[in-house]
Amino acid sequence: MELTERQQAILDGKEGEVKAKVMRTLIMYGETFGSTRMVDITGEYGHLVTSFGLSVMKPVYDLMDTLIDGGAISGQKFSVDPRPLDGSVPSNLIQNLFFKVMYSKQADYDAQLKKLGILADDAYTCTCYMDEVGNTPKEGDILSWAESSAVVYANSILGARCNRNSGILDLFGSIVGCVPYFGLLTDEGRKADWLIEVRTSKKPEAQLIGSAIGMKVMEDVPYVVGLDKYFGSLDDEAKAYFKDFGAATASNGAVGLYHIENLTPEAKRMGRSLLREGYKTFLIDDEVLENTQRNYPVIWKDKNARPRLAFIGCPHLSRAQLESWEERIGNELKRKGAKKLSIKTVMTAAPAVLKEFRKSDAYKRLESYGVIISYICPLMYMNNPMCGSMPVITCSNKLRTYTSARYFKEDELLAIITGGAL
Ligand code: F3S
Repeated sequence: MELTERQQAILDGKEGEVKAKVMRTLIMYGETFGSTRMVDITGEYGHLVTSFGLSVMKPVYDLMDTLIDGGAISGQKFSVDPRPLDGSVPSNLIQNLFFKVMYSKQADYDAQLKKLGILADDAYTCTCYMDEVGNTPKEGDILSWAESSAVVYANSILGARCNRNSGILDLFGSIVGCVPYFGLLTDEGRKADWLIEVRTSKKPEAQLIGSAIGMKVMEDVPYVVGLDKYFGSLDDEAKAYFKDFGAATASNGAVGLYHIENLTPEAKRMGRSLLREGYKTFLIDDEVLENTQRNYPVIWKDKNARPRLAFIGCPHLSRAQLESWEERIGNELKRKGAKKLSIKTVMTAAPAVLKEFRKSDAYKRLESYGVIISYICPLMYMNNPMCGSMPVITCSNKLRTYTSARYFKEDELLAIITGGAL
C-alpha cells in the first residue's frame, strides 16, 4: 500500500500504538478491495452510522474505550445517525421495559461519542447534509462516512466521494484522516453500469422508483434519464425527492451512487459519457412501478389489521417536507370534515431542523392534528421482537425493507391516516 509520509508515520506508531492499529486495519480493508494507496480525507466532517447504545454491543464499547484511552480521538468532528428512542413516540409498558434493557448503554455510548468528537449534542441524524445541521460536503470532497442513505446522497447530489463503509471503519477513517482509494472514490468506479429510462405518465413516487432501480441494479451505478423533466434544477424540492429516492436505491439494493441526467453534478458535467462500455438498460413505466409495489410482501399476522402507528420520515424529513405534510394533512382533514388523524402518526427529522420548525405555526397545526414530531430513527424503534408483530404503515421503502412496516405511497398513506381504509 502506497502511503504518504504522514500516513506512514501513523502506521509506524509515531502517534501511538492505537492509531497505528487503526491505520493497519484501514490498510487491510483497502487491500481486500484491491486498493493500492490511501488518500487523505478532504471533507470537513465525518458521519457515523452507529448511534445506538444496544446492550449487546459490548465489543464496540470496549473498542471505543481503547481508542479514547490510546489518544486515538477523531481528527475531524462527526455527526451520527439518529438516536433510537424518544419518550414522546407511543409505546406500551412492555415495549418501554424492553427498550430500557435493549438500549441500556445509550448514555454511556453518547458519552464515548462526545469524547471521540461528535459535532454537537444534537448532531444525531441521517440527513446530516441539511443546511440546518451543517455537515454538507463539497463536490469532490473525499469522505469517511457510513449510513447508506447519507453516502448515496453525498456521492450523487453533492458530488462528494465516499464508499459504502461499514460502521467503525467510518470512525477509523476520521481518526487517521485517510481512507483506502478504490470503488466510488475513483473516476472509473463512478461510471454507470446501467442506463435507466423513465417513461412514466407522471412524476414517479421517489421511494417507489428508487426501490425498483435498487432491486434491479443492486450495487451498480445507474444513470437515469427522463426524471429531470420534473425538476427545473437541483433546488430544495429536488434535493428532498432525491434524498428519498437514493435511500430507497441504497436499501432495496445497495446503490452508493446514481447519476440523474441534466441534474446531478457529474451528469451535468459529463453527460452520457459516464456510461460504461457495455452498459445495460432498464425501462421503467407505470406498469413496472405497479408491479414493484404489488410484489412487496406483507408480513403482518393479520393482513387486514388496523394500523397502530404510521411513520413518515425515513430518511429524516426536510423542513419543506414537514411543511408540505402539514398542508396536505390539513387539507385532507378539512375535506373529510375531521379535526384529527385517526392513526397515530410520527414524523421524524433532524434535531436541528426541528429546533427551528417548532417555532412555526405549521408545527402547532401539525400537533393539533395529533402528529407526533420526533428525532428518532423509526428503524431503531421497530427493529425488535416487540414491534415485529405491530401493524405499522409507512411511506419509507427503507423502513419497509428492514422491518415489518407496510409500505404505502404518500397519497395512500395520507388517505389512511386521515380516516380512510387500508
Ligand atoms: Fe435514517 Fe434511520 Fe431511516 S438512519 S434513513 S431514519 S433507518
